Amino acid sequence: ALPAGFAGRVVQWQRTHGRNALPWQNTRDPYRVWLSEIMLQQTQVAAVLGYYERFLARFPDVQALAAAPLDDVLALWGGLGYYSRARNLHRCAQDVVALHGGAFPRTAEVLQTLPGIGPSTAAAIASFCFGERAAILDGNVKRVLTRVLAFGADLSAGANERALWDHARALLPDRDLQESMPRYTQGLMDIGATVCLPRNPSCLICPVQPLCAAAAAGNPTDYPVKTRK
Ligand code: ADE
Ligand code: SF4
Repeated sequence: ALPAGFAGRVVQWQRTHGRNALPWQNTRDPYRVWLSEIMLQQTQVAAVLGYYERFLARFPDVQALAAAPLDDVLALWGGLGYYSRARNLHRCAQDVVALHGGAFPRTAEVLQTLPGIGPSTAAAIASFCFGERAAILDGNVKRVLTRVLAFGADLSAGANERALWDHARALLPDRDLQESMPRYTQGLMDIGATVCLPRNPSCLICPVQPLCAAAAAGNPTDYPVKTRK
């Protein structure tokens, strides 16, 4: 049973309560959105901001990044850590130039063939930049959706993770509301980052609380279930 009105609630809430002034928002340039999504994969927004601006000043477009020596890229990556991200970033830029004529692919399906771009990052870029009706499912969104659905199956098992992806796709805005895809994607991220917190979810101010099975049962922090390492 799908909660009716889920997507509409996320979109309406995002307009007034979501994050709308981050430097990688209000652009549809896939280079800028891609860079932000890679930096944000394992690093908090506050820590990313300075690196993001310095990186863009030095490498303003994908051609500049592709042409740079790897050591220059690693030096600017500096303290962000997880240096495999920077190596993949550089390889991805070179693939975009060499294999895609310097233009990022416009679908999540093709974006995820590039180095460092997994299914959720691909869907984020495609929905933000090209309005594709593609589902994201990063760690924060897994927490939100497992709680809303009281999805108690162990996400360490591939079949269960695939089932949650199916749910994520079923909850997307209807096709006639596809123009709200960028805001829907951002709204899900924002609920995960600012409302549906791991240990202290703010259910009283949550826009999807009326549809949330875990809130109704009083046990949000029982989700997500993840037993294996
Ligand atoms: N984390 C991942 N993507 C993000 C985005 N677009 N805005 C804020 N935090 C994020
Ligand atoms: Fe998370 Fe509570 Fe909102 Fe449910 S109602 S999605 S548990 S914050």
